[in-house]
Formats: sequence, structure tokens, C-alpha cells
Amino acid sequence: MNVTIIGASGGIGNAVVNLLSEQDSIEHILACGRSEISHKAPKVEHHPIDLTDEDAIEKAAKRAAEIGPQDLVFVTSGFLHNGDIHPEKAIRDLSIKGFEQNFAINTIGPAMVAKHFLPIMRKNERSVFACLSARVGSISDNGLGGWYAYRASKAALNMVLKNLSIEAARRYKQMIILGLHPGTVDSALSKPFQGNVKESKLFTPHYSAERLLDVIQNAKIENSGDIIAWDGQRIEY
Ligand SMILES: NC(=O)c1ccc[n+]([C@@H]2O[C@H](COP(=O)([O-])OP(=O)(O)OC[C@H]3O[C@@H](n4cnc5c(N)ncnc54)[C@H](OP(=O)(O)O)[C@@H]3O)[C@@H](O)[C@H]2O)c1
Repeated sequence: MNVTIIGASGGIGNAVVNLLSEQDSIEHILACGRSEISHKAPKVEHHPIDLTDEDAIEKAAKRAAEIGPQDLVFVTSGFLHNGDIHPEKAIRDLSIKGFEQNFAINTIGPAMVAKHFLPIMRKNERSVFACLSARVGSISDNGLGGWYAYRASKAALNMVLKNLSIEAARRYKQMIILGLHPGTVDSALSKPFQGNVKESKLFTPHYSAERLLDVIQNAKIENSGDIIAWDGQRIEY
């Protein structure tokens, strides 16, 4: 099996690469990210990618196509904050830059990955295109408010994934499209917001990656377009 991970340098992405590299059934892992990824397993190959650059995404897909049909493409990248941009607590905190950055990385980037990678995925057997979304992207689950740009970018990602599942059902009958919620995971992305999280609820990237790979392995065609949490539970849109 051939696998591409987009966001392989991230907390969860790196744990996914490590786990997959130990599986004998996986022949090749194209580990894509902005930062260089070096891995001891020879089947792991780094390829640079910036999700804001469609040419870079297309080049990565061309490299993946040279390797062979992809059985799993897993987008594990994402954005919540940087030095300038922080999740908004109230309306006064909203900024164009914040919305642009969240949508660029969390919505538009994964959509462009789908555009270039779906055509090179395995067609005659089961294949999975999965993206890390977030429970806070669920509109019906939103009881707290705040985090406008991040929530909106993940809700929009969920819509993109639902659309992909409808088109894939027509063209690529064995392809499953999934949005996944990893739980609250100890990573650079969640670090500033871990204060109120109970230790038992803060997953290691390794634990979350194990659960997510289980969800991917168990997903059926009828789950295509669903948003599913680390524990296998479907999340309402
Ligand atoms: N951690 C949690 O508690 C949690 C909860 C719910 C959902 N999620 C979702 O899970 C995903 C992964 O999160 P994480 O916790 O593993 O975060 P992380 O450690 O901060 O990883 C984020 C990844 O995104 C990549 N990335 C950011 N901007 C990029 C760009 N322009 N082009 C290419 N790659 C880019 C980073 O790559 P570089 O470092 O190379 O730039 C990094 O690999 C995200 O989508 C996040 O929304 C996480």
C-alpha cells in the first residue's frame, strides 16, 4: 500500500508516519510538509509542500503518482494560532488576517490537496482520503462560541469533504472521504489551550494517531462524507 501524509511534521502527523512505518503492508510513505522530515525507515520519503501554494501541491501529487496509486491520503496539517493570530474570544478580536490564515490552511489547502490527489488514488480497490477536522467545526455542537475563524474554517472543510464524498461516489466508487476529530492532543497547536483540560482527556499524539488509524481502517463506503471522532463516534455537522 502507498500512503501520503500531508502535515507529517506536526504532532499528530508525525505519530501517524511513525505508526504506518511499522506496518509491513505499507510499502511507501510520502511524508509531506513545509519542514524537512527525516525518518529512519527507508520507505518514508520527504516531499516539501506548502498548502498555500497550489503548484507545490501539484508537484507532490506528481511525485506520489510516480510511486503508484495511493491507498491512503491523510491531511494532518492545520492552523489555529501563530505569533500574530490567536483564536478570537469575542467579536472585537475578529481580523481579516485571522480568517484568511485559518481558511488558507484548514479549508482551501485540503481542498487543493483533494483536487490533485483524488485522481491519483487507487480506483479498483478501497482507498481513503481523510482530513483532520475538529469537533469545534460542528455547527450543531457549538454551545460555547468563540474561535470564530478556526470553527468557520473547519465547518467549511466539513462541507468540502461532504461535496467530495458526493462526487467520489459517482466517479470513484471504492473511495471513502472522511473528516476526523483527533480528540484534544498534546501538540504545538493545542499547547496554549491545555490549561483547563484534565490530564486523562489530553491524548498523546501516539494514542490519537492509533485511534485515528483504527477509524480509517474500519470505515465503510457508507461512512464517506462523515465526520468521525477518535473513538469511532460520528459527529453531527
Ligand atoms: N491538537 C489538538 O488538540 C487538535 C484538536 C482538534 C483538531 N486538531 C486538528 O488536527 C490537525 C493537526 O494538529 P496538531 O495538533 O498535530 O498540530 P501541529 O503539531 O501544530 O501540526 C500542524 C501541522 O500543520 C502543518 N502546516 C501548517 N501550515 C502549513 C502550510 N502552510 N503548509 C503545509 N503544512 C502546514 C505544520 O507543518 P510545518 O510545521 O512544517 O509548517 C504541521 O505539520 C489540525 O488540523 C488541527 O486543527 C487538533
